[in-house]
Amino acid sequence: MKLKKLAVAMTAVMAFGAISVPAAAEEAQVIGISMPTQSLERWNRDGEYLKEQFENAGYTVELKYSDNDSSQQVSDIQNLLADNVDILIIAAVDGEALNTVMDEAAESEIPVIAYDRLIMNDATSYYVSFDNYTVGTLQGEFIVETLDLENAGDATYNMEITAGDPADNNAGYFYQGAMDVLQPYIDAGTLVVVSGQTGFDSVATDQWDTQTALERAQNILGSYYADGTQLDVWLCSNDSTALGVAQGITSDYAGDNTVIITGQDGDVANLANIVDGIQTMTVYKNVSNESIVTLALAEAVLNGETIDASLCDTFEIECAYDTESYETSDGNVCPSFLLVPSVITADNLEELVDTGLYEMGEDGYLTAVE
Ligand code: GAL
Repeated sequence: MKLKKLAVAMTAVMAFGAISVPAAAEEAQVIGISMPTQSLERWNRDGEYLKEQFENAGYTVELKYSDNDSSQQVSDIQNLLADNVDILIIAAVDGEALNTVMDEAAESEIPVIAYDRLIMNDATSYYVSFDNYTVGTLQGEFIVETLDLENAGDATYNMEITAGDPADNNAGYFYQGAMDVLQPYIDAGTLVVVSGQTGFDSVATDQWDTQTALERAQNILGSYYADGTQLDVWLCSNDSTALGVAQGITSDYAGDNTVIITGQDGDVANLANIVDGIQTMTVYKNVSNESIVTLALAEAVLNGETIDASLCDTFEIECAYDTESYETSDGNVCPSFLLVPSVITADNLEELVDTGLYEMGEDGYLTAVE
């Protein structure tokens, strides 16, 4: 920003000196993008799509990945601020660990869009995400419908639960959305969590790490299912954890191979597991659309436009303007644009191909379009 002010001052001096300066000399605005990690598939896609969207719209993009390390992310964002970005787009590693740098952004009057994950700081200007609670609801409802729990009678089904990273504000929403659907069946004894591990803290997975999810699955399978106890369902909040759980079931569970496993994201390895009948569903979030909504919002913010629900009319993507659901601190609501997730199973994989973002190979497996 300081450099830009200097440029404006110089332009004024030059104009005063009767030297004409073409308007086109104006520099492109700079978009600072901070993504959490490249170790999980989706964030690579998010980074690519965001970069492409903004560059195609004429902006300069600085994109950083923070290796799932929140102090690294703080210094990445400080570097972006030092590079005079005009707006920040941040998917936080830890939504509560960015206060210092959020204060610095506020001091420099740089707007911040929390991307996908909310930042728990009132300097967050806007939030773009999917309806995170609905992601969990869809997973819970899928389990209810697949097992026909409403008509279960005296039948009981055994279930285990793997949730996400406690540092990620989304993780609690996914978990709660699913549990609100499933809890009545747990209370009625229709669903039995054999390990007894149901509270968020006991089922959470630091950094959504596949290996961590695998090891916990192996422990549970070894402790509670090695005697031949049937496992029917494993509720997993996302695909990276579902991948670990599926590996654990393949290696450490002797029962039949019909365990229902949920997921989220449409990661390519998980789509292959869906084709192979190892994972049962994933909640798909079109992150290309998320980047389009983010571009529209960022442009409106940079142009000083009023931000309200009418922004949703400017793109053909189902999206709600929400001023109630997400607070950055008690009572401080963050205006949010929430896209709509959908359920993908082996029966509707074609829907992914229809997005233009995936291709179906002759072998029947999906790959992401480069
Ligand atoms: C969440 C995100 C999910 C999932 C997870 C792990 O914040 O909403 O889509 O990818 O992080 O990266």
